[in-house]
Amino acid sequence: MRVLVLGGTGLISTAIVERLLHTGHDVVLFNRGRTPARFAGNVTRIQGDRQDFGDFQHKVTTSDYDAVIDMITFDPRTAAHAVEVFQGRVSQYLFCSTVCVYGGPLTTIPAHEDEPLRPVSDYGRGKRDAEQVFMTAWEQSEFPVTIFRPSHCYGPGAPLLDIWGYNASLVSRIREGRPILIPGDGRGLWQPGFVGDMAKGFVGAVGCAASLGMAYNIVGDEIMDWRTFHERMARAIGCEANLVCMTTSQLLAGAPDGAGSMLEVNFQYHAAYTNERLKADVPDFSGLLPWEDGVRRTVEWMDSAGVHEPSDSRPWIDRLAKEASAFERKLAKG
Ligand SMILES: NC(=O)c1ccc[n+]([C@@H]2O[C@H](COP(=O)([O-])OP(=O)(O)OC[C@H]3O[C@@H](n4cnc5c(N)ncnc54)[C@H](OP(=O)(O)O)[C@@H]3O)[C@@H](O)[C@H]2O)c1
Repeated sequence: MRVLVLGGTGLISTAIVERLLHTGHDVVLFNRGRTPARFAGNVTRIQGDRQDFGDFQHKVTTSDYDAVIDMITFDPRTAAHAVEVFQGRVSQYLFCSTVCVYGGPLTTIPAHEDEPLRPVSDYGRGKRDAEQVFMTAWEQSEFPVTIFRPSHCYGPGAPLLDIWGYNASLVSRIREGRPILIPGDGRGLWQPGFVGDMAKGFVGAVGCAASLGMAYNIVGDEIMDWRTFHERMARAIGCEANLVCMTTSQLLAGAPDGAGSMLEVNFQYHAAYTNERLKADVPDFSGLLPWEDGVRRTVEWMDSAGVHEPSDSRPWIDRLAKEASAFERKLAKG
């Protein structure tokens, strides 16, 4: 099929492009040409800014596509424009949303796709509203949308993640035995998804009639608590994790402004979702990579791309860890 990817050089979309090429699709990318491509293989490139609606419409309607994979819509206005541009022109429109549309706390763990949509961030609200535009277009005029809701995606292209988000100093910290902070008692649930597995879901759904008008959680198979997530990550790197617990409110109070935004919005809640619906409809979405293997592949990429930051580049982590350890010692003494 001839597939137009909006984005295509990002963390998830690079893996999607690699898999599209590997499975024999004809691939066209639309992006601004700012992010360097990391895939090998031939694609056609259209350069432009998605937010320039007139220019976008002009550039993407000069050719025909079977399917569009949209990685760069974050609001209902852009979604409505996509419906206007592609209605009647494509047989499938695959929209990348997020599990942030559910917000937290979840009512069911792991959460199904019919979990109430109660986002707690502007990002989640924008994606929820964009989803609603696409779903309304499906219900009213059979706009052929398929919605994907990834959780935490990781892999070559971005550093590993801790409670401060993608953190290029995390591997250095683990290698040097520096403390890693985890929220609460470290028993909150988290669920990483390898980008190559995300690509299996997206590309496997291309041309799949059962996926039209559907929303899917697209997440890894392994639900772990924060403690286990870091312990297994460290072991995959050949080290032991030096974990220090602290309440979310203390972490947020002690971190610089903005550093704890993902902790506040995502990490303080259980984030665990079922991927059963996607597995039932898209058989290619199977054989997902175990966490340790994904960690090793990500660290290999970090080593070769030279993206590591020094272990002391986020000094507040050591300061907070000292405070937490002093408090523990005080408690132990009674
Ligand atoms: N990472 C996660 O854990 C996660 C979880 C849930 C959902 N998601 C969703 O995944 C999507 C991100 O996918 P990704 O990882 O491939 O993206 P990414 O790493 O954020 O890369 C963004 C891609 O879009 C292009 N782009 C950005 N702004 C653009 C614009 N205004 N006009 C045209 N092209 C633009 C970039 O190329 P240029 O810079 O060259 O334009 C690049 O190819 C988002 O929709 C996000 O909500 C991610």
